[in-house]
Amino acid sequence: MSATTLAGGKYARELKQVEGIVKKSMEGASGRLKAMLDYLAQGSGKMLRPRLLILAAGLFKDKFSARERAELVHAAAAVELIHTASLVHDDIIDGAARRRGQVALHRRWGEGNAVQAGDYLLAAAFKLLSVKVRVPGLLPLLAETVRAMCRGELEQMKHAFDWQMTEKEYFRLNYLKTGQLLAACCEAGGRVMNASPEELAALRRYGAHLGQEFQLMDDLLDYAASSAALGKPAGSDLSQGVVTLPLIRLLQQEASYRFLLNKAGKVKPLPRKLTRILREAIAESGALDYCYRRAVRFRAAALEALLPFKKGEARRLLAEAAFAVTRQAVLLTGHRL
Ligand code: FPP
Ligand code: MG
Repeated sequence: MSATTLAGGKYARELKQVEGIVKKSMEGASGRLKAMLDYLAQGSGKMLRPRLLILAAGLFKDKFSARERAELVHAAAAVELIHTASLVHDDIIDGAARRRGQVALHRRWGEGNAVQAGDYLLAAAFKLLSVKVRVPGLLPLLAETVRAMCRGELEQMKHAFDWQMTEKEYFRLNYLKTGQLLAACCEAGGRVMNASPEELAALRRYGAHLGQEFQLMDDLLDYAASSAALGKPAGSDLSQGVVTLPLIRLLQQEASYRFLLNKAGKVKPLPRKLTRILREAIAESGALDYCYRRAVRFRAAALEALLPFKKGEARRLLAEAAFAVTRQAVLLTGHRL
């Protein structure tokens, strides 16, 4: 999704404030920690999560009060810090070489230092939430979400090289890893605006479906896009033994490939020749089109969840986000999915 897709002009002021708070949260460190945080700041991401939080709030009001704006921008900065911390840790777990267009933190400073930097960011996020945000239920919501993300990541590690993994198991992990946080961002925006339980549930549905669509496209792009286009290594899921839907779909249709995988054993990275054979088989089998169609179903569910909210700029931008996720996959693959 392009950096401007969700900016929409209208919320530019809030997003600038969020960037400032994120930056400020990274201050106060010195030495190696400061160097690592400065480095992370250079490779800043799309800010999808803070944007969602602010847009979800925008569904309720055209103009925020000073109190609402202050709570929103601090909560939005916190979710961005949580997300960045999770990526720092995820790259260590996945052995990833690059992130956000630059060398991954752990590859430059080593795993031990990178773990500490991730912890520091996570603590900075919860400091913001506990000191700057006084919205009932928001702190436990995000704490519970991080716990779910950890469970998702641990379950994914348990399923490494599990060539029997089912679609159902895949979608559960997909939800825990990504759907949960996006659902929580949208719910958090609603909580700041004192939304009703029904409205909070609809916001969660939108965020969870958008998150699942997003993670599914991320998993598809790992097979279908180039590393240059992604700003991180393509093809790493398979070579690291991470099982995602494109492979599950291929194995459903052509179980014989499971034999090749079992024969290779649990080695990281898997032999290049084998990953090339599987990538080609996935491309030819229609598995990527299947993933795309599943993502379109999540998109439809996300759009449906927006219907109870009043039409306006925020609803338009949230709907646009759901379209942007699948559109980006088509653009990055140059593929007619
Ligand atoms: C990226 O997935 C990773 C996540 C969506 C979540 C990672 C969660 C944790 C490490 C647990 C929570 C930890 C903290 C510090 C909050 P991916 O590997 O499929 O995507 P990628 O291709 O971008 O690496
Ligand atoms: Mg990863």
